[in-house]
Amino acid sequence: MRPFGMSLPCPLPPAAPAALTVERVQATLRTIAYPGLTRDLVSFGMVQHVAVCDGRVKVQLGLRTSDETVPARLSASIEAALLPLGATSVAVEIVAPAAAPARARNVKADPWADQVRLASVRHIIAVGAGKGGVGKSTVAVNLALALAREGLRAGLLDADIYGPSLPILLGLDDGASKVRMSAEKHIEPLEAYGLPMISFGFFLGEGSPAIWRGPMVSKAVKQFARGVAWPELDVLVVDLPPGTGDVPLSLVQAVALSGAVIVTQPPRVAVAEARKAAEMFRTLDVPVLGVVENMSGVFGRGAGRSVASELGVPFLGEIPFDETVVEEGDRGTPTMVERAHSATGLAFDHIAATVAEALGWRRA
Ligand SMILES: Nc1ncnc2c1ncn2[C@@H]1O[C@H](COP(=O)(O)OP(=O)(O)OP(=O)(O)O)[C@@H](O)[C@H]1O
Ligand SMILES: [Mg+2]
Repeated sequence: MRPFGMSLPCPLPPAAPAALTVERVQATLRTIAYPGLTRDLVSFGMVQHVAVCDGRVKVQLGLRTSDETVPARLSASIEAALLPLGATSVAVEIVAPAAAPARARNVKADPWADQVRLASVRHIIAVGAGKGGVGKSTVAVNLALALAREGLRAGLLDADIYGPSLPILLGLDDGASKVRMSAEKHIEPLEAYGLPMISFGFFLGEGSPAIWRGPMVSKAVKQFARGVAWPELDVLVVDLPPGTGDVPLSLVQAVALSGAVIVTQPPRVAVAEARKAAEMFRTLDVPVLGVVENMSGVFGRGAGRSVASELGVPFLGEIPFDETVVEEGDRGTPTMVERAHSATGLAFDHIAATVAEALGWRRA
């Protein structure tokens, strides 16, 4: 790739007092959203360098995308924003994220080289946490149902290969016997409360992935992430296992994610793990859409909001500790089906509305 001349040769001092400055360009970049999302380029950490000289502007963006139209769309919107401010020329260069090779320590040279975009799915979002048992699966299920109530075509993928719980939470314990392959050898999703869904649990049989080594996990996750015949979906919500291990890494390498939602609980140990999860997604260049505080109240309150502000990401909301959620989980009838108008249901609705907006969804 052509080296990007960041120190523009600039023989003249800036012309007029109102001349375009690096600060003004950066402020303008804060108003430009990444295509398909509502978050801006600066807050995603994509702006690697800005140089301005005598009206000529160069912007270097570090990003990875398998959507070939993104660079041209970004260049066009940056140019459209800067020309009216007096820019005489605008050059936008897109490079692989500068820090990627150093940051992705456990990863081969280009871990994303193989990443694909699912043809029928607009956005894939992962629900992760770091810590186990904080309510990722409960949040994933109810978030998907609440997104569907918002009007999005939502689906659910249970990628927790170590302890898949969506079959139970959705009342599909017998899913393994129902799941079918299409003529093209794709997995046909089952339906739960109107949502297409598929779980790793349907395919595990007697085998225990607990003993799988990294490459086996990676291969299985990749096949699973790409091998489902999803109908047209606006959003696919992926439930991840706890931790920052092979599954999220393999998922990101297999398919392009639009973002991640981090679930935490009030106790500090959960917060520390949430921070690690957020750091992992950033390392993998997956935007963190925000933090959810689950089981709020009994163990304290406010940790989700403070970790979100520390990470510089939106706080999506808190879900109260609610014993009925446990019963609903055991019965396979999620809160958003049983009690959408309860305080807990409304909390999920609120979070879904914010997530939908971050994905660029506007209610008609
Ligand atoms: N808001 C809540 N109030 C009360 N109990 C809850 C709440 N959210 C989840 N739970 C309960 O907490 C337990 C763990 O939830 P869940 O399985 O969703 O967590 P998880 O983070 O996915 O766990 P794992 O790490 O094992 O995948 C379940 O029994 C669930 O019913
Ligand atoms: Mg879970």
